Amino acid sequence: MTNALEPRPEHKFTFGLWTVGWQARDPFGDATRPPLDPVETVHRLAGLGAHGVTFHDDDIAPFGSDGTEREQHLKRFREALDATGMVVPMVTTNLFTHPMFKEGAFTANDRDVRRFAVRKVMRNLDLAAELGAQTYVFWGGREGSEVDVAKDARAALDRYREAIDLLAAYVLDRGYGIRFALEPKPNEPRGDIFLPTVGHALAFISTLDHHEMVGLNPEVGHEQMSNLNMTHAVSQALWQGKLFHIDLNGQHGPKFDQDLVFGHGDLLSAFSLVDLLEHGGPGGGPAYDGPRHFDYKPLRTEAIDGVWESAAANMRTYLLLKERSAAFRADPEVQEALAAARVPDLAVPTLADGESFEDLLADDDAFDAFDPDAAGERSHGAVRLDQLAVEHLLGAR
Ligand code: GCO
Ligand code: MN
Ligand code: MN
Repeated sequence: MTNALEPRPEHKFTFGLWTVGWQARDPFGDATRPPLDPVETVHRLAGLGAHGVTFHDDDIAPFGSDGTEREQHLKRFREALDATGMVVPMVTTNLFTHPMFKEGAFTANDRDVRRFAVRKVMRNLDLAAELGAQTYVFWGGREGSEVDVAKDARAALDRYREAIDLLAAYVLDRGYGIRFALEPKPNEPRGDIFLPTVGHALAFISTLDHHEMVGLNPEVGHEQMSNLNMTHAVSQALWQGKLFHIDLNGQHGPKFDQDLVFGHGDLLSAFSLVDLLEHGGPGGGPAYDGPRHFDYKPLRTEAIDGVWESAAANMRTYLLLKERSAAFRADPEVQEALAAARVPDLAVPTLADGESFEDLLADDDAFDAFDPDAAGERSHGAVRLDQLAVEHLLGAR
């Protein structure tokens, strides 16, 4: 019998090379860990049961590598993938580290920087396609400003759209079959970043030439930095058919981007998120079948042992939450409490089949004979449901 809490490739757990590879340099202190060789990362993560890795172009071959050096780095990386069976379902671009991007990439005031940024993505899209990636993430960490009058935000959105439209046309022309996923974040490193939340990104996507191939990569911590509800954000992304990828991690409310291990922040929210992903689909099945991608940073206090421990912790916490959510859904008392709270009733349309607003106007029970006070006195059973969730989460049921 397989252990449900043991990560296996079919769980589709993936990690950015930059996550475990973070050397823990922060604005106040130097690196506390040595660099990690991507080849070792692939082997270690495969050994822990992961399905794949993701990367920025510069995580594989340092910025400025010449063609031969780049090919050597890629060769070793491909060999590690072949040896382990690890896949690369998502790829992204570093448009934030080099000083040239300090004022923006796609939305830099400097046109030559914008042209370079687009070319950098095109080169890496070729590699993404070659490695079989299905998703290309755009995290615009430097797309924003600190000074309102130093950036024309409407022109910036024009340029952002121009870049995504251009790159979508490139992918279509080359037949790469890759979809784009925009990753919202409210701030950090910029004082304010464009497309700060899932909602902003959804509105932006609707203006794109190839909006059908552009969706979202929401990150737990990023929505929570804005004091928003990640489970609601993901629900709306799913509702609009735009959950193309997801970044799982932990965060303690609105403060700097903590990138904690998944579940090591708001645990109840992590529970409802896993419950949504695993049981929010048709017939109670999964609502999302893509990679469960961890975008976290091993704490700066940890040496390399803590890096691998935290990588394993992400996957184990996810699987524990998945198990707890299955137990919650299967509990007859939960089902009864859901019915008592009329949760399933919300799926019933407000008008009956074929009913018109004229019929609604003619329905006495709907208005004149309706008893508003009685409706106002009803109890909705939400506390009971919350406590049942907490009890399942704590293993008390
Ligand atoms: C962050 C972001 C990044 C992106 C990554 C992929 O806040 O640092 O989450 O980690 O996800 O750059 O584009
Ligand atoms: Mn983050
Ligand atoms: Mn992220």
